[in-house]
Amino acid sequence: MKSPFRIALAALVSLVVVACDRDAPPQALTPTPEHRIGVGIDPHSFAEFDRVRIRHVNLDLDANMRARTLSGHVVLDLDRVEPGFQRLVLDSRDLDIRDVNAIRPDGRYLPVSWRFGADHGHLGRPLVIVLPAGIEQVRIDYATSPEAFGLQWLDGEQTSSGRPFMFSQSQPHYARTWVPLQDTPAVRYTFEATIRSPRDLMVVMGAAGNAFERNDTGEYRFAMPEPIPSYLMAIAIGDLVFEEIGPRTGVYAEPQWIERAVAEFGVLEEMLEIGENLYGEYRWGRYDLLVLPPSFPFGGMENPRLSFITPTIIAGDGSLLALVAHELAHSWSGNLVTNAAWRDLWLNEGFTVYFEARIMEALYGSEIRDQLARLSWDGLLESLEGLDERDRMLVRDLFDRDPEQAFIRVPYDMGRFFLDWIEHRVGRETFDAFLRAYFDHFAFQSITTEDFLVYLEEHLIEPSDGALTRAEVDQWLFVPGMPELAWEIEPQSDAFVNVDDWRERWLAAEAELGDLPVDDWSVFQWQHFLVGLEGRLDAETMADMDARFGLVEQQNYEILFLWLMRSIEAQYAPGIERLERFLLEVGRNKFTRPLYAALAESDWGRDWAIEVFERARLGYHPLTRQAAERALGI
Ligand code: BES
Ligand code: ZN
Repeated sequence: MKSPFRIALAALVSLVVVACDRDAPPQALTPTPEHRIGVGIDPHSFAEFDRVRIRHVNLDLDANMRARTLSGHVVLDLDRVEPGFQRLVLDSRDLDIRDVNAIRPDGRYLPVSWRFGADHGHLGRPLVIVLPAGIEQVRIDYATSPEAFGLQWLDGEQTSSGRPFMFSQSQPHYARTWVPLQDTPAVRYTFEATIRSPRDLMVVMGAAGNAFERNDTGEYRFAMPEPIPSYLMAIAIGDLVFEEIGPRTGVYAEPQWIERAVAEFGVLEEMLEIGENLYGEYRWGRYDLLVLPPSFPFGGMENPRLSFITPTIIAGDGSLLALVAHELAHSWSGNLVTNAAWRDLWLNEGFTVYFEARIMEALYGSEIRDQLARLSWDGLLESLEGLDERDRMLVRDLFDRDPEQAFIRVPYDMGRFFLDWIEHRVGRETFDAFLRAYFDHFAFQSITTEDFLVYLEEHLIEPSDGALTRAEVDQWLFVPGMPELAWEIEPQSDAFVNVDDWRERWLAAEAELGDLPVDDWSVFQWQHFLVGLEGRLDAETMADMDARFGLVEQQNYEILFLWLMRSIEAQYAPGIERLERFLLEVGRNKFTRPLYAALAESDWGRDWAIEVFERARLGYHPLTRQAAERALGI
């Protein structure tokens, strides 16, 4: 960072500034924005948004599916919060910047000088632009790299339609790999976009204006009238068709998926209504789903108005719809009220898991709710054991760490149980009223845990007359590990106790496989059953189980995944065969990462896994690729 080259470069840029723009004093480029990294509210962005802030984004891009690039320009409308401050620092990573112009109030272009700051790895490089006085618009002409981390490009051979596909994944900090902007959840802006693609494909965005049919020009226009943070910027291009579910809901997918998807997601409109009844009006207009190719690295991504969804939750029986409830719930928790930095992720994900559970309860009843709660409780306790002290808490110090590290179970499940516990203390009616008011109060804002606490003190702690205290709340938020208090709300599921009984009796040879009452088991009971068999099966037993239950042919990917994990442990050949096909087809990180990790740890599987990975990697998203490489130690 302190190389003489950088100082020399800064000096040179200052000279150019003086030469081409008398309004901008040379000191506008010092101190360098790198000095501010980690100092402001968001250590993962170079943006100086307390001084100048993006208000509106206008994108105009051409998609080249063969070259794997987006190219064109973006116009940024700015709020000069500190009018005399003459520098705009944007986040960027692997962008090819071709031209930067200020747009004067009379519409004329004024070339301005700019430079890249030092490369900060996954944070990319600050793009430092001189901002003359009075300028409120900047235009940047640029192109993305074919390796842009936030985009995945698929060839025709890699999709079910046989046509190319592209999709973005901007959270947490990859928007900067396809648009130069202030890539921090602390800044919200509205946007509009014009995107051109090959005519046999269709473009959709997390925005208003998605077409219901492909047009014959290849040009699509969008607008996002509600202010959003950059991590919610989303685009996809492919051979897409649309089917309606309800008046405000529908599904986009490649033709081969659409029928199954519509059948699976038939309750979408009802879910939306449940969400509104719980937390107040849905403020985004339509709510559609986009089914991605199986290489999509996540289960779902809450892109506004258009959640991105993995096809691996299409089980044929609606059993994995909790994920859709989750992404829908983000329309309030996260998209409406956003964490201002990734240290406060629990405000997004913890609230969302809580709401997901409330939606599932409203749809399927308390029995299913309890089973799901128990699965997440057990999973959380197990994951807490393997974590460092600093990661065992809700509010985490992510300074100097990749924001990817924020996304562990703690903000999700411990965040959720924290809210379950508040509900338990103050009563559901009171808590629901609080939540509705909270969403109203902070709608379209980005907040910190401290903002939440101020609001909580006034609206829930004080009126609660001691039912809820600040000291207890602080234990949840700032003390590592699950607090003692959590046991007040430990979820209980008789259905799971029953599964435990049968599992143990069978393993002790007190019952036969055929005695297990599996016909009555929910998908979650199956999951609980298989989780409890970790390290306890041999290949012969697995073959017996397959002969009876056909687990290796499971259409339900959650169950199949657990069966594959057990297969690795027991080196069970039919399972390993299925695993190979699985790894070549599916890029969902939640599955691929633990599978590769388990193979890497086994005494026989590492070389085999590396060989499979080498064949699979071209079909993986950069995120999946990176996680698998780490798991395999390559
Ligand atoms: N916002 C996340 C997706 C995400 C995760 C983006 C990590 C960036 C980093 C989304 O809402 C989510 O949490 N998805 C989960 C499903 C959920 C039911 C726990 C997933 O994809 O597994
Ligand atoms: Zn989420």
